[in-house]
Amino acid sequence: MCGIIGYIGSKNPVEILINGLKSLEYRGYDSAGIALKEKDKIEVVKSIGKIVNLEEKLKNEELISSHLGIAHTRWATHGRPTVENAHPHTAGNVTLVHNGIIENAEELREKLKNEGVSFYSETDTEVLAALINQYYKKDPIEAITKALNEVKGSYALGILFKDREDLYAVRKDSPLIIGIGKEENFIASDIAAIIDYTNQYLLLEEGEIAHITKDTVEVIKDGKILDKKIQTTNLEKDAKDKCGYDHYMLKEIMEEPVVLEKTFEPYLQHHLEKLPDLTKYEEIHIVACGSAMYAGMIGKTLLEEYANTKAEIDVASEYRYKNIIYNKKTLVILISQSGETADTIAAMRKAQEHKIDTLAIVNVKTSTIARESDQQIFIEAGPEIAVATTKAYILQVGIMALLAYKTALEKNLVKDEHHVLEEAKKLPRLIKEVLDRREEYKKIAQEIYKKEDVFFIGRKIDYATSQEGSLKLKEVSYIHSEAYQAGELKHGTISLINEGMPVFAIVTDDSIKDKTFSNIEEVKSRGAKTIIISNEHWENQKLQVTVPKISPYFQPLLIVPTLQLIAYETAKLRGCDIDKPKNLAKSVTVE
Ligand code: F6R
Repeated sequence: MCGIIGYIGSKNPVEILINGLKSLEYRGYDSAGIALKEKDKIEVVKSIGKIVNLEEKLKNEELISSHLGIAHTRWATHGRPTVENAHPHTAGNVTLVHNGIIENAEELREKLKNEGVSFYSETDTEVLAALINQYYKKDPIEAITKALNEVKGSYALGILFKDREDLYAVRKDSPLIIGIGKEENFIASDIAAIIDYTNQYLLLEEGEIAHITKDTVEVIKDGKILDKKIQTTNLEKDAKDKCGYDHYMLKEIMEEPVVLEKTFEPYLQHHLEKLPDLTKYEEIHIVACGSAMYAGMIGKTLLEEYANTKAEIDVASEYRYKNIIYNKKTLVILISQSGETADTIAAMRKAQEHKIDTLAIVNVKTSTIARESDQQIFIEAGPEIAVATTKAYILQVGIMALLAYKTALEKNLVKDEHHVLEEAKKLPRLIKEVLDRREEYKKIAQEIYKKEDVFFIGRKIDYATSQEGSLKLKEVSYIHSEAYQAGELKHGTISLINEGMPVFAIVTDDSIKDKTFSNIEEVKSRGAKTIIISNEHWENQKLQVTVPKISPYFQPLLIVPTLQLIAYETAKLRGCDIDKPKNLAKSVTVE
Protein backbone atom coordinates (compact mmCIF):
# COMPACT_ATOMS: atom_id res chain seq x y z
CA MET A 1 0.00 0.00 0.00
CA CYS A 2 1.82 3.15 -1.24
CA GLY A 3 5.47 2.87 -2.17
CA ILE A 4 8.50 5.02 -1.39
CA ILE A 5 11.85 5.16 -3.10
CA GLY A 6 14.60 7.73 -2.65
CA TYR A 7 18.08 8.15 -4.16
CA ILE A 8 21.20 10.14 -3.45
CA GLY A 9 24.42 9.53 -5.38
CA SER A 10 26.32 10.49 -8.48
CA LYS A 11 23.80 9.26 -11.04
CA ASN A 12 20.72 11.00 -12.36
CA PRO A 13 17.95 9.64 -10.13
CA VAL A 14 15.04 9.66 -12.59
CA GLU A 15 15.59 6.18 -14.05
CA ILE A 16 16.39 4.67 -10.64
CA LEU A 17 13.31 6.21 -9.06
CA ILE A 18 10.99 5.14 -11.86
CA ASN A 19 12.38 1.57 -11.83
CA GLY A 20 11.94 1.51 -8.09
CA LEU A 21 8.34 2.67 -8.35
CA LYS A 22 7.66 -0.05 -10.92
CA SER A 23 9.00 -2.66 -8.50
CA LEU A 24 6.63 -1.31 -5.87
CA GLU A 25 3.61 -1.26 -8.20
CA TYR A 26 2.38 -4.55 -6.73
CA ARG A 27 1.64 -2.78 -3.45
CA GLY A 28 -1.29 -1.01 -5.12
CA TYR A 29 -1.60 2.68 -6.05
CA ASP A 30 -3.71 5.18 -7.93
CA SER A 31 -1.27 8.06 -8.53
CA ALA A 32 2.48 8.58 -8.61
CA GLY A 33 4.98 11.40 -8.27
CA ILE A 34 8.62 12.33 -8.13
CA ALA A 35 10.69 15.19 -6.65
CA LEU A 36 14.16 16.03 -7.95
CA LYS A 37 16.55 18.31 -6.14
CA GLU A 38 19.55 20.32 -7.24
CA LYS A 39 21.06 23.24 -5.33
CA ASP A 40 18.13 25.26 -3.95
CA LYS A 41 15.63 23.95 -6.52
CA ILE A 42 13.14 21.16 -6.02
CA GLU A 43 11.09 20.08 -9.01
CA VAL A 44 7.95 17.99 -8.46
CA VAL A 45 6.10 16.07 -11.19
CA LYS A 46 2.95 14.07 -10.41
CA SER A 47 0.24 12.23 -12.29
CA ILE A 48 -2.78 10.08 -11.64
CA GLY A 49 -3.14 6.48 -12.79
CA LYS A 50 -0.30 4.24 -13.85
CA ILE A 51 3.42 4.98 -13.65
CA VAL A 52 3.58 5.20 -17.47
CA ASN A 53 1.52 8.39 -17.16
CA LEU A 54 4.22 9.84 -14.91
CA GLU A 55 6.89 8.69 -17.36
CA GLU A 56 5.05 10.43 -20.20
CA LYS A 57 4.86 13.64 -18.17
CA LEU A 58 8.56 13.46 -17.29
CA LYS A 59 9.44 13.09 -21.00
CA ASN A 60 7.62 16.30 -21.77
CA GLU A 61 9.24 18.34 -18.99
CA GLU A 62 12.62 19.98 -19.07
CA LEU A 63 13.92 18.46 -15.87
CA ILE A 64 16.67 19.89 -13.71
CA SER A 65 19.83 17.79 -13.67
CA SER A 66 19.94 16.25 -10.23
CA HIS A 67 21.57 13.65 -7.97
CA LEU A 68 18.97 13.49 -5.25
CA GLY A 69 15.31 12.60 -5.46
CA ILE A 70 12.31 10.92 -3.87
CA ALA A 71 9.33 9.24 -5.49
CA HIS A 72 6.05 7.73 -4.42
CA THR A 73 3.07 5.68 -5.47
CA ARG A 74 -0.06 6.69 -3.55
CA TRP A 75 -3.05 4.55 -2.63
CA ALA A 76 -5.68 7.13 -1.71
CA THR A 77 -6.76 7.35 1.93
CA HIS A 78 -7.20 11.07 2.79
CA GLY A 79 -8.63 12.65 -0.36
CA ARG A 80 -9.35 11.33 -3.82
CA PRO A 81 -6.67 10.18 -6.29
CA THR A 82 -5.94 13.57 -7.92
CA VAL A 83 -2.72 15.26 -9.00
CA GLU A 84 -3.02 17.73 -6.10
CA ASN A 85 -3.31 14.91 -3.59
CA ALA A 86 -0.49 12.81 -5.14
CA HIS A 87 2.88 12.87 -3.38
CA PRO A 88 5.49 14.38 -3.02
CA HIS A 89 4.03 17.28 -1.03
CA THR A 90 5.78 20.57 -0.43
CA ALA A 91 5.39 23.14 2.33
CA GLY A 92 7.97 25.92 2.37
CA ASN A 93 11.40 24.35 2.72
CA VAL A 94 10.12 20.81 3.06
CA THR A 95 9.23 18.27 0.35
CA LEU A 96 8.29 14.78 1.40
CA VAL A 97 6.69 11.46 0.55
CA HIS A 98 4.64 9.55 3.09
CA ASN A 99 3.17 6.08 3.60
CA GLY A 100 0.67 5.57 6.40
CA ILE A 101 -2.06 7.67 7.95
CA ILE A 102 -1.84 10.66 10.26
CA GLU A 103 -4.82 10.19 12.53
CA ASN A 104 -4.87 13.70 14.01
CA ALA A 105 -4.29 15.41 10.65
CA GLU A 106 -7.47 17.51 10.82
CA GLU A 107 -6.64 18.83 14.28
CA LEU A 108 -3.10 19.70 13.11
CA ARG A 109 -4.46 21.28 9.92
CA GLU A 110 -6.69 23.61 12.00
CA LYS A 111 -3.78 24.51 14.28
CA LEU A 112 -1.54 25.30 11.29
CA LYS A 113 -4.30 27.30 9.58
CA ASN A 114 -4.55 29.44 12.72
CA GLU A 115 -0.82 30.02 12.37
CA GLY A 116 -1.39 31.32 8.83
CA VAL A 117 -0.53 28.21 6.83
CA SER A 118 -2.65 27.51 3.75
CA PHE A 119 -3.13 24.13 2.07
CA TYR A 120 -3.57 23.06 -1.56
CA SER A 121 -4.52 19.38 -1.04
CA GLU A 122 -6.87 17.27 1.07
CA THR A 123 -4.06 15.06 2.34
CA ASP A 124 -2.72 14.32 5.79
CA THR A 125 0.73 14.28 4.17
CA GLU A 126 0.65 17.95 3.27
CA VAL A 127 -0.20 18.68 6.91
CA LEU A 128 2.87 16.74 7.96
CA ALA A 129 5.08 18.65 5.50
CA ALA A 130 3.70 21.94 6.83
CA LEU A 131 4.26 20.91 10.44
CA ILE A 132 7.90 19.98 9.82
CA ASN A 133 8.34 23.22 7.90
CA GLN A 134 6.96 25.22 10.84
CA TYR A 135 9.64 23.73 13.07
CA TYR A 136 12.45 23.98 10.53
CA LYS A 137 15.04 26.50 11.67
CA LYS A 138 18.03 25.01 9.76
CA ASP A 139 18.13 21.86 11.90
CA PRO A 140 16.32 19.00 10.10
CA ILE A 141 16.59 16.46 12.96
CA GLU A 142 15.13 18.94 15.43
CA ALA A 143 12.28 19.87 13.06
CA ILE A 144 11.40 16.24 12.29
CA THR A 145 11.52 15.28 15.98
CA LYS A 146 9.38 18.20 17.12
CA ALA A 147 6.80 17.62 14.40
CA LEU A 148 6.53 13.88 14.94
CA ASN A 149 6.06 14.42 18.67
CA GLU A 150 2.73 16.01 17.76
CA VAL A 151 1.66 13.36 15.30
CA LYS A 152 -0.59 10.37 15.97
CA GLY A 153 -0.69 7.56 13.41
CA SER A 154 1.62 5.63 11.15
CA TYR A 155 4.26 6.90 8.78
CA ALA A 156 7.27 6.14 6.66
CA LEU A 157 8.76 9.38 5.35
CA GLY A 158 11.40 10.40 2.84
CA ILE A 159 12.17 14.10 3.33
CA LEU A 160 14.07 16.73 1.36
CA PHE A 161 14.90 20.25 2.58
CA LYS A 162 15.20 22.97 -0.04
CA ASP A 163 18.43 24.37 1.40
CA ARG A 164 20.18 21.03 2.06
CA GLU A 165 21.85 18.44 -0.17
CA ASP A 166 20.91 15.38 1.88
CA LEU A 167 18.01 13.01 2.43
CA TYR A 168 16.16 12.19 5.66
CA ALA A 169 14.02 9.19 6.54
CA VAL A 170 11.94 8.11 9.51
CA ARG A 171 9.25 5.50 10.14
CA LYS A 172 6.60 4.26 12.57
CA ASP A 173 4.33 1.27 11.86
CA SER A 174 5.02 1.48 8.14
CA PRO A 175 7.97 -0.24 6.45
CA LEU A 176 11.06 1.63 5.20
CA ILE A 177 14.61 0.41 4.65
CA ILE A 178 17.83 2.21 3.78
CA GLY A 179 19.80 0.71 0.91
CA ILE A 180 23.57 1.03 1.14
CA GLY A 181 25.39 1.40 -2.17
CA LYS A 182 28.81 2.51 -3.35
CA GLU A 183 28.87 6.30 -3.54
CA GLU A 184 25.08 6.14 -3.52
CA ASN A 185 22.40 5.36 -0.99
CA PHE A 186 18.67 4.68 -1.15
CA ILE A 187 15.48 4.55 0.83
CA ALA A 188 12.70 2.15 -0.12
CA SER A 189 9.51 0.57 1.14
CA ASP A 190 10.81 -2.80 0.09
CA ILE A 191 14.24 -4.20 -0.86
CA ALA A 192 12.76 -5.32 -4.21
CA ALA A 193 12.74 -1.64 -5.29
CA ILE A 194 16.54 -1.31 -5.05
CA ILE A 195 17.79 -4.88 -5.57
CA ASP A 196 19.16 -3.94 -9.02
CA TYR A 197 21.62 -1.57 -7.30
CA THR A 198 22.44 -3.10 -3.91
CA ASN A 199 21.68 -6.07 -1.66
CA GLN A 200 22.85 -4.28 1.51
CA TYR A 201 20.42 -2.48 3.75
CA LEU A 202 19.73 -1.07 7.19
CA LEU A 203 16.49 -1.50 9.07
CA LEU A 204 15.12 1.67 10.55
CA GLU A 205 13.33 1.28 13.88
CA GLU A 206 10.69 3.46 15.46
CA GLY A 207 12.12 6.69 16.90
CA GLU A 208 15.22 6.58 14.67
CA ILE A 209 15.92 9.25 12.06
CA ALA A 210 18.24 8.52 9.14
CA HIS A 211 20.42 11.28 7.72
CA ILE A 212 21.66 10.13 4.34
CA THR A 213 24.28 11.56 2.00
CA LYS A 214 25.94 10.01 -1.05
CA ASP A 215 28.69 8.47 1.09
CA THR A 216 27.24 8.20 4.59
CA VAL A 217 24.21 7.01 6.50
CA GLU A 218 23.79 8.18 10.08
CA VAL A 219 20.94 6.80 12.14
CA ILE A 220 20.13 9.07 15.04
CA LYS A 221 18.06 8.39 18.14
CA ASP A 222 17.61 10.81 21.03
CA GLY A 223 20.47 12.92 19.67
CA LYS A 224 22.97 10.00 19.48
CA ILE A 225 24.33 8.31 16.38
CA LEU A 226 23.61 4.57 16.55
CA ASP A 227 25.86 1.74 15.45
CA LYS A 228 23.44 -0.08 13.13
CA LYS A 229 24.12 -3.47 11.60
CA ILE A 230 24.15 -3.60 7.82
CA GLN A 231 22.16 -6.60 6.58
CA THR A 232 22.40 -8.48 3.30
CA THR A 233 19.34 -9.76 1.51
CA ASN A 234 19.45 -13.09 -0.33
CA LEU A 235 16.76 -11.86 -2.72
CA GLU A 236 17.92 -12.68 -6.25
CA LYS A 237 17.91 -9.86 -8.78
CA ASP A 238 15.63 -11.80 -11.10
CA ALA A 239 13.24 -12.83 -8.33
CA LYS A 240 11.04 -9.94 -9.29
CA ASP A 241 11.02 -10.75 -12.99
CA LYS A 242 8.16 -12.63 -14.58
CA CYS A 243 10.55 -15.31 -15.95
CA GLY A 244 8.60 -15.62 -19.18
CA TYR A 245 5.14 -15.87 -17.61
CA ASP A 246 2.45 -13.43 -18.72
CA HIS A 247 1.70 -12.41 -15.14
CA TYR A 248 3.29 -12.56 -11.70
CA MET A 249 0.18 -14.33 -10.45
CA LEU A 250 0.81 -17.22 -12.84
CA LYS A 251 4.53 -17.29 -12.11
CA GLU A 252 3.87 -17.36 -8.39
CA ILE A 253 1.29 -20.17 -8.66
CA MET A 254 3.80 -22.18 -10.69
CA GLU A 255 6.42 -21.67 -7.96
CA GLU A 256 4.23 -23.44 -5.39
CA PRO A 257 5.89 -26.88 -5.57
CA VAL A 258 9.39 -25.40 -5.13
CA VAL A 259 8.57 -23.01 -2.29
CA LEU A 260 6.59 -25.68 -0.48
CA GLU A 261 9.52 -28.09 -0.62
CA LYS A 262 11.84 -25.36 0.68
CA THR A 263 9.45 -24.41 3.50
CA PHE A 264 8.78 -28.01 4.60
CA GLU A 265 12.39 -29.22 4.37
CA PRO A 266 13.69 -28.20 7.82
CA TYR A 267 10.59 -29.61 9.50
CA LEU A 268 10.37 -32.89 7.61
CA GLN A 269 14.10 -33.56 8.05
CA HIS A 270 13.77 -33.42 11.82
CA HIS A 271 10.39 -35.08 12.31
CA LEU A 272 8.71 -31.75 13.05
CA GLU A 273 10.93 -31.20 16.13
CA LYS A 274 11.63 -27.62 15.06
CA LEU A 275 7.95 -26.69 15.18
CA PRO A 276 6.57 -25.21 18.40
CA ASP A 277 4.67 -27.45 20.79
CA LEU A 278 1.05 -26.27 20.91
CA THR A 279 -0.03 -28.82 23.54
CA LYS A 280 1.00 -26.52 26.37
CA TYR A 281 -1.83 -24.18 25.39
CA GLU A 282 -5.49 -24.73 26.23
CA GLU A 283 -6.77 -22.71 23.32
CA ILE A 284 -5.44 -21.20 20.15
CA HIS A 285 -6.63 -17.91 18.60
CA ILE A 286 -5.73 -17.65 14.94
CA VAL A 287 -5.88 -14.04 13.73
CA ALA A 288 -5.28 -12.69 10.24
CA CYS A 289 -6.88 -10.86 7.30
CA GLY A 290 -8.21 -11.96 3.91
CA SER A 291 -6.61 -15.04 2.41
CA ALA A 292 -4.29 -15.39 5.40
CA MET A 293 -7.45 -15.64 7.53
CA TYR A 294 -8.82 -18.34 5.24
CA ALA A 295 -5.54 -20.22 5.65
CA GLY A 296 -6.15 -19.88 9.40
CA MET A 297 -9.66 -21.32 8.94
CA ILE A 298 -8.11 -24.45 7.51
CA GLY A 299 -5.70 -24.54 10.46
CA LYS A 300 -8.58 -24.20 12.92
CA THR A 301 -10.49 -27.04 11.26
CA LEU A 302 -7.43 -29.34 11.29
CA LEU A 303 -6.57 -28.53 14.92
CA GLU A 304 -10.11 -29.26 16.06
CA GLU A 305 -10.79 -32.21 13.82
CA TYR A 306 -7.56 -34.17 14.17
CA ALA A 307 -5.70 -32.71 17.18
CA ASN A 308 -8.70 -32.24 19.44
CA THR A 309 -7.50 -28.71 20.20
CA LYS A 310 -9.77 -25.73 20.82
CA ALA A 311 -9.09 -23.14 18.14
CA GLU A 312 -10.81 -19.86 17.27
CA ILE A 313 -10.41 -17.93 14.05
CA ASP A 314 -10.88 -14.19 13.83
CA VAL A 315 -10.50 -11.40 11.33
CA ALA A 316 -7.80 -9.11 12.75
CA SER A 317 -9.81 -5.91 12.17
CA GLU A 318 -12.52 -7.32 14.50
CA TYR A 319 -10.23 -9.05 16.96
CA ARG A 320 -8.33 -5.87 17.76
CA TYR A 321 -11.50 -4.13 19.00
CA LYS A 322 -13.41 -7.05 20.55
CA ASN A 323 -13.54 -7.97 24.20
CA ILE A 324 -11.37 -11.07 24.04
CA ILE A 325 -11.65 -13.33 27.04
CA TYR A 326 -8.11 -14.58 27.35
CA ASN A 327 -7.18 -17.70 29.19
CA LYS A 328 -3.58 -17.48 30.46
CA LYS A 329 -2.93 -20.63 28.44
CA THR A 330 -3.96 -19.06 25.13
CA LEU A 331 -1.64 -18.83 22.15
CA VAL A 332 -2.32 -16.22 19.47
CA ILE A 333 -1.18 -17.31 16.00
CA LEU A 334 -0.82 -14.43 13.55
CA ILE A 335 -0.69 -15.27 9.88
CA SER A 336 0.64 -12.66 7.48
CA GLN A 337 2.56 -12.78 4.23
CA SER A 338 3.79 -9.19 4.42
CA GLY A 339 4.07 -8.99 8.19
CA GLU A 340 2.97 -5.36 7.83
CA THR A 341 -0.83 -5.65 7.80
CA ALA A 342 -1.95 -2.92 10.22
CA ASP A 343 -4.86 -4.84 11.75
CA THR A 344 -2.80 -7.99 12.27
CA ILE A 345 -0.04 -5.94 13.92
CA ALA A 346 -2.64 -4.38 16.22
CA ALA A 347 -4.04 -7.83 17.10
CA MET A 348 -0.52 -9.03 17.95
CA ARG A 349 0.12 -6.02 20.18
CA LYS A 350 -3.22 -6.50 21.91
CA ALA A 351 -2.34 -10.11 22.81
CA GLN A 352 1.09 -8.99 24.03
CA GLU A 353 -0.47 -6.31 26.24
CA HIS A 354 -2.42 -9.14 27.88
CA LYS A 355 0.85 -11.11 28.28
CA ILE A 356 -0.38 -13.75 25.85
CA ASP A 357 2.19 -15.68 23.77
CA THR A 358 2.24 -14.86 20.06
CA LEU A 359 3.42 -17.04 17.20
CA ALA A 360 3.73 -15.53 13.72
CA ILE A 361 3.55 -17.43 10.45
CA VAL A 362 5.14 -14.86 8.19
CA ASN A 363 6.97 -14.48 4.89
CA VAL A 364 8.84 -11.17 5.15
CA LYS A 365 11.58 -11.75 7.73
CA THR A 366 12.32 -8.07 8.28
CA SER A 367 8.67 -7.13 8.83
CA THR A 368 7.11 -5.70 11.99
CA ILE A 369 5.23 -8.93 12.80
CA ALA A 370 8.37 -11.02 12.28
CA ARG A 371 10.33 -8.75 14.60
CA GLU A 372 7.78 -8.16 17.33
CA SER A 373 6.10 -11.57 17.71
CA ASP A 374 7.39 -13.93 20.41
CA GLN A 375 7.98 -16.88 18.07
CA GLN A 376 8.11 -17.10 14.30
CA ILE A 377 7.68 -19.73 11.64
CA PHE A 378 8.94 -18.37 8.35
CA ILE A 379 7.42 -19.48 5.09
CA GLU A 380 9.88 -19.42 2.21
CA ALA A 381 7.67 -17.90 -0.48
CA GLY A 382 10.26 -15.33 -1.61
CA PRO A 383 8.84 -12.06 -2.91
CA GLU A 384 5.18 -12.20 -3.82
CA ILE A 385 4.51 -9.46 -6.34
CA ALA A 386 0.98 -10.15 -7.62
CA VAL A 387 -1.51 -8.42 -5.36
CA ALA A 388 -3.59 -11.60 -4.99
CA THR A 389 -1.70 -13.99 -2.77
CA THR A 390 -1.19 -17.52 -4.10
CA LYS A 391 2.07 -19.19 -3.14
CA ALA A 392 2.20 -17.55 0.30
CA TYR A 393 -1.35 -18.76 1.03
CA ILE A 394 -0.36 -22.33 0.09
CA LEU A 395 2.60 -22.16 2.49
CA GLN A 396 0.48 -20.71 5.29
CA VAL A 397 -1.91 -23.64 4.90
CA GLY A 398 1.04 -26.06 4.70
CA ILE A 399 2.50 -24.80 7.99
CA MET A 400 -0.90 -24.92 9.71
CA ALA A 401 -1.26 -28.53 8.53
CA LEU A 402 2.15 -29.47 9.97
CA LEU A 403 1.34 -27.71 13.25
CA ALA A 404 -1.99 -29.53 13.55
CA TYR A 405 -0.34 -32.84 12.72
CA LYS A 406 2.45 -32.31 15.25
CA THR A 407 -0.16 -31.45 17.90
CA ALA A 408 -2.08 -34.64 17.11
CA LEU A 409 1.18 -36.61 17.37
CA GLU A 410 2.02 -35.08 20.76
CA LYS A 411 -1.46 -35.99 21.97
CA ASN A 412 -1.09 -39.58 20.76
CA LEU A 413 -3.95 -39.17 18.34
CA VAL A 414 -2.07 -40.45 15.29
CA LYS A 415 -2.19 -44.09 14.31
CA ASP A 416 0.25 -44.11 11.41
CA GLU A 417 2.87 -41.40 11.80
CA HIS A 418 4.98 -42.62 8.92
CA HIS A 419 2.13 -42.34 6.44
CA VAL A 420 1.39 -38.63 6.93
CA LEU A 421 5.05 -37.57 6.73
CA GLU A 422 5.51 -39.62 3.57
CA GLU A 423 2.44 -37.90 2.11
CA ALA A 424 3.97 -34.52 3.00
CA LYS A 425 7.08 -35.40 1.02
CA LYS A 426 4.95 -36.24 -2.03
CA LEU A 427 3.19 -32.88 -1.98
CA PRO A 428 5.51 -30.84 -4.25
CA ARG A 429 5.23 -33.49 -6.97
CA LEU A 430 1.46 -33.75 -6.61
CA ILE A 431 0.97 -29.96 -6.64
CA LYS A 432 3.02 -29.84 -9.82
CA GLU A 433 0.80 -32.52 -11.37
CA VAL A 434 -2.27 -30.44 -10.51
CA LEU A 435 -0.69 -27.26 -11.91
CA ASP A 436 0.22 -28.97 -15.16
CA ARG A 437 -3.46 -29.48 -16.04
CA ARG A 438 -4.03 -25.92 -17.24
CA GLU A 439 -6.16 -26.98 -20.22
CA GLU A 440 -8.84 -28.30 -17.83
CA TYR A 441 -8.91 -24.99 -15.96
CA LYS A 442 -9.11 -23.02 -19.20
CA LYS A 443 -12.21 -25.04 -20.16
CA ILE A 444 -13.88 -24.23 -16.85
CA ALA A 445 -12.92 -20.57 -17.24
CA GLN A 446 -14.64 -20.61 -20.65
CA GLU A 447 -17.81 -21.82 -18.92
CA ILE A 448 -17.91 -19.05 -16.32
CA TYR A 449 -16.17 -15.96 -17.63
CA LYS A 450 -19.32 -14.32 -19.02
CA LYS A 451 -21.26 -14.82 -15.78
CA GLU A 452 -21.64 -12.12 -13.17
CA ASP A 453 -22.48 -14.28 -10.13
CA VAL A 454 -20.93 -17.48 -8.88
CA PHE A 455 -21.27 -19.56 -5.72
CA PHE A 456 -18.85 -21.86 -3.97
CA ILE A 457 -20.12 -24.49 -1.56
CA GLY A 458 -18.45 -26.98 0.75
CA ARG A 459 -18.66 -28.37 4.26
CA LYS A 460 -16.11 -28.32 7.09
CA ILE A 461 -12.58 -28.02 5.64
CA ASP A 462 -14.06 -27.83 2.14
CA TYR A 463 -15.97 -24.73 3.21
CA ALA A 464 -12.70 -23.06 4.30
CA THR A 465 -11.20 -23.94 0.92
CA SER A 466 -14.31 -22.60 -0.83
CA GLN A 467 -13.79 -19.24 0.89
CA GLU A 468 -10.34 -18.87 -0.64
CA GLY A 469 -11.52 -20.07 -4.06
CA SER A 470 -14.30 -17.50 -3.99
CA LEU A 471 -12.05 -14.63 -2.85
CA LYS A 472 -9.45 -15.43 -5.51
CA LEU A 473 -12.04 -15.48 -8.29
CA LYS A 474 -13.78 -12.25 -7.28
CA GLU A 475 -10.66 -10.21 -6.62
CA VAL A 476 -8.95 -10.93 -9.94
CA SER A 477 -11.91 -11.41 -12.32
CA TYR A 478 -14.43 -9.00 -10.69
CA ILE A 479 -17.13 -11.69 -10.93
CA HIS A 480 -19.35 -11.47 -7.87
CA SER A 481 -18.80 -14.64 -5.88
CA GLU A 482 -19.87 -15.99 -2.50
CA ALA A 483 -18.87 -19.01 -0.51
CA TYR A 484 -21.43 -20.86 1.59
CA GLN A 485 -21.48 -23.84 3.89
CA ALA A 486 -23.23 -26.29 1.57
CA GLY A 487 -26.00 -27.02 4.10
CA GLU A 488 -26.70 -23.34 4.71
CA LEU A 489 -27.64 -22.40 1.16
CA LYS A 490 -31.25 -23.44 1.52
CA HIS A 491 -31.79 -21.04 4.42
CA GLY A 492 -32.27 -18.13 2.08
CA THR A 493 -29.51 -17.90 -0.52
CA ILE A 494 -30.81 -20.70 -2.72
CA SER A 495 -33.43 -18.23 -3.99
CA LEU A 496 -30.61 -16.62 -5.99
CA ILE A 497 -29.78 -19.79 -7.90
CA ASN A 498 -31.12 -19.63 -11.41
CA GLU A 499 -30.64 -21.25 -14.78
CA GLY A 500 -26.98 -21.60 -15.73
CA MET A 501 -25.52 -20.04 -12.58
CA PRO A 502 -22.11 -21.60 -11.86
CA VAL A 503 -21.84 -23.29 -8.46
CA PHE A 504 -18.44 -24.70 -7.53
CA ALA A 505 -18.69 -27.55 -5.03
CA ILE A 506 -15.58 -28.60 -3.14
CA VAL A 507 -15.95 -32.21 -2.02
CA THR A 508 -13.00 -33.91 -0.34
CA ASP A 509 -13.95 -34.73 3.24
CA ASP A 510 -15.07 -38.37 3.27
CA SER A 511 -17.03 -37.93 6.50
CA ILE A 512 -19.45 -35.48 4.88
CA LYS A 513 -19.28 -36.15 1.13
CA ASP A 514 -22.79 -37.61 0.86
CA LYS A 515 -24.32 -34.59 2.54
CA THR A 516 -22.54 -32.18 0.19
CA PHE A 517 -23.63 -34.30 -2.71
CA SER A 518 -27.29 -33.84 -1.71
CA ASN A 519 -26.70 -30.08 -1.64
CA ILE A 520 -25.21 -30.29 -5.14
CA GLU A 521 -28.39 -32.04 -6.32
CA GLU A 522 -30.49 -29.26 -4.70
CA VAL A 523 -28.78 -26.51 -6.70
CA LYS A 524 -28.69 -28.61 -9.87
CA SER A 525 -32.44 -29.10 -9.72
CA ARG A 526 -32.79 -25.30 -9.65
CA GLY A 527 -30.79 -24.94 -12.85
CA ALA A 528 -27.25 -24.37 -11.49
CA LYS A 529 -24.27 -25.29 -13.62
CA THR A 530 -22.28 -27.32 -11.08
CA ILE A 531 -18.51 -27.67 -11.17
CA ILE A 532 -17.18 -30.26 -8.74
CA ILE A 533 -13.61 -30.03 -7.49
CA SER A 534 -12.95 -33.25 -5.65
CA ASN A 535 -10.49 -36.01 -4.84
CA GLU A 536 -12.73 -38.59 -6.50
CA HIS A 537 -14.43 -38.87 -9.87
CA TRP A 538 -18.19 -38.24 -9.90
CA GLU A 539 -20.44 -40.10 -12.34
CA ASN A 540 -22.82 -38.08 -14.53
CA GLN A 541 -21.00 -34.82 -13.78
CA LYS A 542 -19.87 -32.92 -16.85
CA LEU A 543 -17.69 -30.22 -15.30
CA GLN A 544 -15.29 -31.53 -12.72
CA VAL A 545 -11.65 -31.57 -11.67
CA THR A 546 -10.36 -34.62 -9.85
CA VAL A 547 -7.17 -34.09 -7.87
CA PRO A 548 -5.13 -36.89 -6.24
CA LYS A 549 -6.41 -38.11 -2.90
CA ILE A 550 -3.98 -37.45 -0.06
CA SER A 551 -3.98 -37.29 3.74
CA PRO A 552 -6.80 -34.92 4.85
CA TYR A 553 -4.16 -32.68 6.45
CA PHE A 554 -2.88 -31.79 2.99
CA GLN A 555 -5.93 -32.15 0.76
CA PRO A 556 -6.58 -28.36 0.54
CA LEU A 557 -3.06 -27.98 -0.86
CA LEU A 558 -4.14 -29.88 -3.96
CA ILE A 559 -7.56 -28.21 -4.29
CA VAL A 560 -6.57 -24.55 -3.95
CA PRO A 561 -4.03 -24.48 -6.83
CA THR A 562 -6.86 -25.56 -9.18
CA LEU A 563 -9.06 -22.75 -7.86
CA GLN A 564 -6.22 -20.24 -8.21
CA LEU A 565 -5.66 -21.24 -11.84
CA ILE A 566 -9.40 -21.15 -12.65
CA ALA A 567 -9.50 -17.62 -11.18
CA TYR A 568 -6.43 -16.65 -13.21
CA GLU A 569 -7.74 -18.06 -16.52
CA THR A 570 -11.14 -16.44 -15.96
CA ALA A 571 -9.61 -13.03 -15.23
CA LYS A 572 -7.50 -13.39 -18.35
CA LEU A 573 -10.54 -14.10 -20.52
CA ARG A 574 -12.22 -11.03 -19.02
CA GLY A 575 -9.19 -8.87 -19.82
CA CYS A 576 -8.60 -7.86 -16.20
CA ASP A 577 -5.46 -6.27 -14.79
CA ILE A 578 -4.58 -9.57 -13.11
CA ASP A 579 -1.52 -8.58 -11.09
CA LYS A 580 -2.99 -5.31 -9.89
CA PRO A 581 -6.74 -5.62 -9.47
CA LYS A 582 -8.52 -2.31 -9.08
CA ASN A 583 -8.80 -0.74 -5.61
CA LEU A 584 -6.53 -3.34 -4.02
CA ALA A 585 -3.15 -3.02 -2.34
CA LYS A 586 -0.65 -5.76 -1.65
CA SER A 587 0.21 -4.77 1.84
CA VAL A 588 -2.62 -3.16 3.79
CA THR A 589 -0.67 -0.94 6.14
CA VAL A 590 -3.66 1.16 7.22
CA GLU A 591 -6.65 -0.04 9.19
C1 F6R B 1 -5.99 -11.81 -1.19
C2 F6R B 1 -4.93 -11.21 -0.39
C3 F6R B 1 -5.29 -10.56 0.88
C4 F6R B 1 -4.21 -10.81 1.95
C5 F6R B 1 -4.51 -9.97 3.20
C6 F6R B 1 -3.50 -10.22 4.30
O1 F6R B 1 -5.48 -12.42 -2.33
O2 F6R B 1 -3.79 -11.21 -0.80
O3 F6R B 1 -6.55 -10.96 1.33
O4 F6R B 1 -4.16 -12.18 2.24
O5 F6R B 1 -4.53 -8.61 2.86
O6 F6R B 1 -2.22 -9.84 3.91
P1 F6R B 1 -0.95 -10.33 4.72
O7 F6R B 1 -0.86 -11.82 4.56
O8 F6R B 1 0.21 -9.62 4.10
O9 F6R B 1 -1.17 -9.95 6.16
